[in-house]
Amino acid sequence: MRIKYTISIVFFVALVIIEKENNIISRVSDKLALKQTPQTPLQPSSFSHILLKHNPSFASLKKDSAFTLMKRRLENYSEHQEVMTRGRKHILLLATTRTGSSFVGEFFNQQGDNMFYLFEPLWHVEKMLTLDTGGTNATASAKAYRDVLQQLLLCDFSLLESFIDPLPVDHITTALFRRESSSSLCEESVCSPFVKGVFERYHCRTRRCGPLNLTMASQSCLQKEHKAIKSVRVRQLETLRPLAEDPRLDVKFIQLVRDPRAVLASRMVAFAAKYKNWKEWAAGGDIPIDDDEVRKLKGNCDNIKMSAEIGLRRPQWLRGRYMLVRYEDIARFPMRKASEMYRFAGIPFTPQVKSWILKNTQASKDTSGVYSTQKNSSEQVEKWRFSIPFKIAQVVQKVCGPTLKLFGYKFVSSEEMLTDKSVSLIEDKVFNVL
Ligand SMILES: *[C@@H]1O[C@H](CO)[C@@H](O)[C@H](O)[C@H]1NC(C)=O
Ligand SMILES: *[C@@H]1O[C@H](CO)[C@@H](O)[C@H](O)[C@H]1NC(C)=O
Ligand SMILES: *[C@@H]1O[C@H](CO)[C@@H](O)[C@H](O)[C@H]1NC(C)=O
Ligand SMILES: *[C@@H]1O[C@H](CO)[C@@H](O)[C@H](O)[C@H]1NC(C)=O
Repeated sequence: MRIKYTISIVFFVALVIIEKENNIISRVSDKLALKQTPQTPLQPSSFSHILLKHNPSFASLKKDSAFTLMKRRLENYSEHQEVMTRGRKHILLLATTRTGSSFVGEFFNQQGDNMFYLFEPLWHVEKMLTLDTGGTNATASAKAYRDVLQQLLLCDFSLLESFIDPLPVDHITTALFRRESSSSLCEESVCSPFVKGVFERYHCRTRRCGPLNLTMASQSCLQKEHKAIKSVRVRQLETLRPLAEDPRLDVKFIQLVRDPRAVLASRMVAFAAKYKNWKEWAAGGDIPIDDDEVRKLKGNCDNIKMSAEIGLRRPQWLRGRYMLVRYEDIARFPMRKASEMYRFAGIPFTPQVKSWILKNTQASKDTSGVYSTQKNSSEQVEKWRFSIPFKIAQVVQKVCGPTLKLFGYKFVSSEEMLTDKSVSLIEDKVFNVL
């Protein structure tokens, strides 16, 4: 009886201290994560010396209403711990278009039998919520994105279904966007018998399957230890806070960013017609560039920056849950960055992933040792510098300056500097220092 009571008091005081210096829990859990022994239950004794140091008079504290509240919080925390001890991780790879997110998504898609991976499920949500103006109501879509992601991480497809057009019948659909990009949706267990004569825009390539049965997908998802979803549609990390706080989930956010000048250069190639005026203007034409596009560029940069700033500030709700990765670092050091991402996620880095990376990056081809892999890849990574006119690079620098700065992308001050191969525009920068 007495021991029980003492333990309760010990917990209570520990929690009071945690309230005051609310980083203790995260320090403790960081340590647990570091030791890679998430199974270790939180021992009361591990708190007692901390609290003795901080508050020797703890024994005089009395039970009161705050105690009940603390106890409930503790229960919540234990519940959370329990989820963690089961080791199930929920990865959200958040990016914007043309940042190499499909490639990086493969790091998780290739993980193997333990992972349920979804590629851009929010495509359906965005499509459904697109207004006549061509845009979306940011508030409404943010909420829908959040709710759909939350359900999907719990293997529940019902809300997503309501956004699929045409609406699935009996949970069967032929229209799931890029089904074949999720190996989880083309596995034997999710592959219903092939039906002749049914047209499927997005069909499995690894085997012949019938239309996607989302009940089967959900069952398969529940069997997998980890879930990962890649999306280029979430604009503000903060909108996903309820997922981080959901005790049923152990969410890890990976934000992928890329030099906005490179993103624009890539867009100018992909959507050449849209940027005709920009090119003419850059070449000395006098038609000013489209304000709307500049506004969009700025909006994107600001959103990316705001999300990263929140992540890097490490508020309580994001502690140990946020990682920032630059595309340029992944392109130059794919194996190292992939293993870092896996370590962050708390998932073993499998041989399948390693061999996929070897096969799909220049790392493998460079066996002669004549060229340094890194140098070669960095040339690939900085190729955009030869396709973007200097005047347009300047526009991006003006509009996205703080974003470039935050991520360590060097400004160019002249055409010569832009195209000078000997000057890298990627500063060495370490994020996520624990
Ligand atoms: C415990 O968690 C539940 C649901 O996650 C929440 O509604 C409740 O407010 C939490 N209680 C405390 C004391 O934090
Ligand atoms: C956007 O959606 C929110 C919530 O659904 C609504 O309250 C708001 O009026 C909408 N805004 C516009 C501009 O339509
Ligand atoms: C979809 O899969 C579930 C679970 O395996 C099964 O019960 C259901 O009959 C399937 N639906 C159809 C239309 O085949
Ligand atoms: C980079 O590597 C690729 C593939 O290995 C090779 O074709 C190319 O010539 C290399 N480029 C340079 C500049 O070394």
